[in-house]
Amino acid sequence: MRTLKPLFVLIFFAVLSLGYSQKIYTDKDIQIIPKPNQLLIQSGTFEFSKNTVFVANTDFQKDISTALISKFQIAAGFSPVLGTKAPQRNFIQFKVDPAFHKEAYKLEVINNSITVTANGNAGFIYGLETIRQLLPVAIESKYAITSEKWQIPNVTITDEPRFKWRGLMLDLSRHFFDKNYIMETIDRLAMHKMNVLHLHLVDDQGWRIEIKKYPKLTEVGAWRVDQENVSWNARLTTNPDEKGTYGGFFTQEELKEIVKYAATKNIEVIPEIEMPAHVSSAIASYPELACFDQRIGVPSGGLWPITDIYCAGKETTFEFLQNVIDEVITIFPSKYIHIGGDEATKTNWEKCPHCQKRMKDNGLKNVHELQSYFVKRMEKYINSKGKKVIGWDEILEGGLAPEATVMSWRGTKGGVEATEQGHDVIMTPESHCYFNFYQGPQNEEPLAFDAYTPLSKVYEFDPVVPTMTPQEASHVLGGQANLWAEHLAGPKDSEYMIFPRLAALSEVLWSSKDSRNWNDFTTRLAPMLKRYDYLGINYAKSAYLVTASSSADLAKKQINVTLKNEFPNPDIRYVLGDKNIDQNALKYTNPIQFNGTTVLKASLFQNEKPVGKTFTDTIIFHKAVGHKVNYLTPFNDNYKGDGPFTLANTIRGSKNFHDGQWQAWLVNDMEVVVDLGTQESIEQVIVGTLESQGSGVNFPVKIKVLISNDGIKYQEVGKISRPYAANVTSELKDFKINFAKINTRFVKVIAVNLKKSPKGESSWLFVDEILVN
Ligand code: ACM
Ligand code: ZN
Repeated sequence: MRTLKPLFVLIFFAVLSLGYSQKIYTDKDIQIIPKPNQLLIQSGTFEFSKNTVFVANTDFQKDISTALISKFQIAAGFSPVLGTKAPQRNFIQFKVDPAFHKEAYKLEVINNSITVTANGNAGFIYGLETIRQLLPVAIESKYAITSEKWQIPNVTITDEPRFKWRGLMLDLSRHFFDKNYIMETIDRLAMHKMNVLHLHLVDDQGWRIEIKKYPKLTEVGAWRVDQENVSWNARLTTNPDEKGTYGGFFTQEELKEIVKYAATKNIEVIPEIEMPAHVSSAIASYPELACFDQRIGVPSGGLWPITDIYCAGKETTFEFLQNVIDEVITIFPSKYIHIGGDEATKTNWEKCPHCQKRMKDNGLKNVHELQSYFVKRMEKYINSKGKKVIGWDEILEGGLAPEATVMSWRGTKGGVEATEQGHDVIMTPESHCYFNFYQGPQNEEPLAFDAYTPLSKVYEFDPVVPTMTPQEASHVLGGQANLWAEHLAGPKDSEYMIFPRLAALSEVLWSSKDSRNWNDFTTRLAPMLKRYDYLGINYAKSAYLVTASSSADLAKKQINVTLKNEFPNPDIRYVLGDKNIDQNALKYTNPIQFNGTTVLKASLFQNEKPVGKTFTDTIIFHKAVGHKVNYLTPFNDNYKGDGPFTLANTIRGSKNFHDGQWQAWLVNDMEVVVDLGTQESIEQVIVGTLESQGSGVNFPVKIKVLISNDGIKYQEVGKISRPYAANVTSELKDFKINFAKINTRFVKVIAVNLKKSPKGESSWLFVDEILVN
């Protein structure tokens, strides 16, 4: 009996405290991104207080414990204790188990104690990051929140990543981000259990790493003439004698600090030293690195094609690069050095006597084989230093270097090819991993690269291609987001492009494929966004935006507009006419019917309040609405719009020509006939078009309107010409053709395609609506 007594007392108090304040946790309360592999919730909780002891027995454990303790000091207003011995209760301890995989961890919260088990530091970091996400989001607060209860549920979490490479690339050349921002980015990567930071340190528009043997690389190459207030592709070519004032670089000491800090977060920093192209900054510093010793300035903006590249014939080029690599490897302990290799236009190599001699001496059949020689030679050198080489997928052309790892960016094709050859790959296809692309309706977004990768698309990414054999798939190290910085003006822009897409990517790369579930992810994203709010991250709210599509009821002359949002079961509300979106807005359930010109505003609601930007569209009724459009020249299969009804559906396209409202013709003219059904009196035709020359999309050069009553014999009633003009922006334009009022049934509209751009590219013609008035 006597031995039972303490147990009885214990149970009594346990029951008492349960009745008091115990929150009962369910799966829904655990909102961790990336989703852990296995999670078991038990009854009971662990509460953090000033008495909680972090039992840390190595310097590393002390450092990571201190990082979490300091969050309590700031957000909770109390300081848990850092100790070396576990007390009776309320402590966190670390346990080493060599049987665990490198980044795996087990988190057990039970009996008023927390145990993080891992094989080493990486797992311990992730265990603590998981505790952070089990805690209320207010743990991220920058001031004390006293009303919060700092408790987490009793759980057992067993977790490890699906892929070992989970990266983000920052382009420091096109925009120079300072050390502070890089350190912050490291923290944020760790919060998402990402483990690679790839620094793009060299590109045409700036050399960003101190190389002691070649001081001009940073005296000259790190600075460009300041045209930051002009959009990237409109910046003018600069004279080599003009002094550069925009730029900067990292000293070797600063880079070592970054590397050291990253290591405390299990993040490996991979340097990218581009070659043989994307090196105008180096050639501006040392013209002898190019084939013809030409003097050039560091470009301030867009440069295409890239013909100023390193000479592959001169021995001095290799001496230079080997000396650069010698210094790079003293800074970066990473296993890999990225040597670029992308987008080299090799016209100078065709003409250069040094390059030609090199090809002849080595039996190289073409300049692709010369690039392959270049990469193989550099790989051999880098391998001799105990490091491995990564290159963009262009390094496949002309023959892959024997040990190289391929970073596949032009889709996954290069990655597949490399795995077939038994090489490792990192998948970063533009389609899903380029975070410089738009993530929301283009009219509503800050300027970005002219392509579209919304949050849900990132979430659909899979680094393993279904056609790969298990053996090939085993060569897929993982994936990475690349943030090219041409259009970024600072950290806030960078944050906007990275978040929340990084959350989606982190789950793709960490969590098991079976557990991937968009609905579930979006639920867990909400608290993550609150964390971003607390951390002051300027994340994109593009996923909140409402978009529209429409269909027509020809008989009723009615347009039915469907409203959508990226999230599952969104609470969309709308108003018609000149009203604001507020608590009186109507709840959207079914397509909205329109019979006349009306302004439509809509917004996603959360907690009874509109969130994100309001969608606004003026549904303009005109005489073609709901009528049949016959295509005398068919639209391109890739741009079908909303089907054959698109050109008379009242819904206008955005600057994102993938938004489903655009039809397109490649090289061909658009030639369509609108059948008004009966004779109508008309005096104007408006053709809605788009220009985005960077993507090969040009305004029509001429538009003609013809009319007919029998649909056979046509008479021209109006035309306009608009000669090609260079345009660096994306622009929407309505071409209006006015004519004397006339009765007609058939209206033929011909929009003449530019056909070939001045650069010689096939031209696209895009049309979203033909308005007949
Ligand atoms: C790249 O986007 N040129 C790798
Ligand atoms: Zn040359």
